[in-house]
Amino acid sequence: MRSPIAAAAVAWFRDHGRDLPWRGTHDAYRIWVSEIMLQQTQVATVIPYYTRFLERFPDVRRLAEAPEDEVFRYWAGLGYYRRARQLHSAAKCVVEHHGGQFPKDLTAMLSLPGIGRYTASAILSFAYDLNHGIVEANTQRLYARLLYWKEPLQTTKSQNALWEFAEGLVPKQGKGTGKINQAVMEIGSQICTPNVPQCDRCPLVPFCPTSAKGHFDRIPAPKPPKKITELREAAALVERDGKWLMRRCQVGERWAGLWDFPRFDITDCDSEAAVRKALANAVLERFQQSIDVEDCVHSLKHAVTRYRITLHCYDAKIPTRRKVSTFVGSQGGDAQWCDLAQMEDLALSSSGKRVLRWLKKRTHSTTD
Ligand code: ADE
Repeated sequence: MRSPIAAAAVAWFRDHGRDLPWRGTHDAYRIWVSEIMLQQTQVATVIPYYTRFLERFPDVRRLAEAPEDEVFRYWAGLGYYRRARQLHSAAKCVVEHHGGQFPKDLTAMLSLPGIGRYTASAILSFAYDLNHGIVEANTQRLYARLLYWKEPLQTTKSQNALWEFAEGLVPKQGKGTGKINQAVMEIGSQICTPNVPQCDRCPLVPFCPTSAKGHFDRIPAPKPPKKITELREAAALVERDGKWLMRRCQVGERWAGLWDFPRFDITDCDSEAAVRKALANAVLERFQQSIDVEDCVHSLKHAVTRYRITLHCYDAKIPTRRKVSTFVGSQGGDAQWCDLAQMEDLALSSSGKRVLRWLKKRTHSTTD
């Protein structure tokens, strides 16, 4: 028998669901791209990126064939670039191992890079109407309230209970799962919001003990606060004839695949002299390039996951009579000399972009 909660959700969704670009399609590729973009980014921000991305990469083969740099460029601004890298490698995997067709089976889907249980279930249910429930940030809040679930949602016990509830909402076989999942997700994001849910508009109020008790501040239980770690880093702005030394971040590093000014951790340096020495040594070791580190000319703060980073930028030059490292190429490779216009064309890390903006301002104010 069909779940009464699912029936009420779908009836409401028919009249109130938003018309979003990825909702009018059953193309697993398009749904997948939307789900990956939506993982840490709001719908309104995603829409223009989604449209542009699909114009350039209209199917999985076109994405698989594209150079990674270009994929990053179409992603630039959405942040969390790991998603773009995984999207690109999953596309290659779908082409190489699945003949360019998205698998229709949960286990095969889960073996693709960047696809976890939620994303796999969302794609399989939205594209193929396969019978898998979904749990993500919005639905888990909704389910916790429908279950009056008092424990923190991050534990295995809570996640098991939420997934069990999700699977109970969708039919064991037959049609309708895709619509049910879209409906509960819409209610979770548009109605059952974190602080002040709009119960007066919610079709699920008759089933909701949390609404009856008004306990929205307790259910779901507040998350334990994230431990923030402070880091200090220094970037070397190594300049030679109007070009700066840039490097591509490697796999295993923050921002892998993106470009940045050479930067290093200086949390343990206890003086300016120690920072300069550490920076010069690090550039020599990494790029086989001697530099003179000059003044700290700019500082900025930025946050990445649980880190709060203060980045100090130092001007640096190649000492006269010292060789320019052949390790650093002018084209291609993972280290390059770039002028400001060439830097604009690189897929830069977000803090790298801020440094570039500052560098351009400084360059223009000194040449005006
Ligand atoms: N958030 C994650 N997936 C979504 C979807 N398909 N529609 C709207 N918001 C979402």
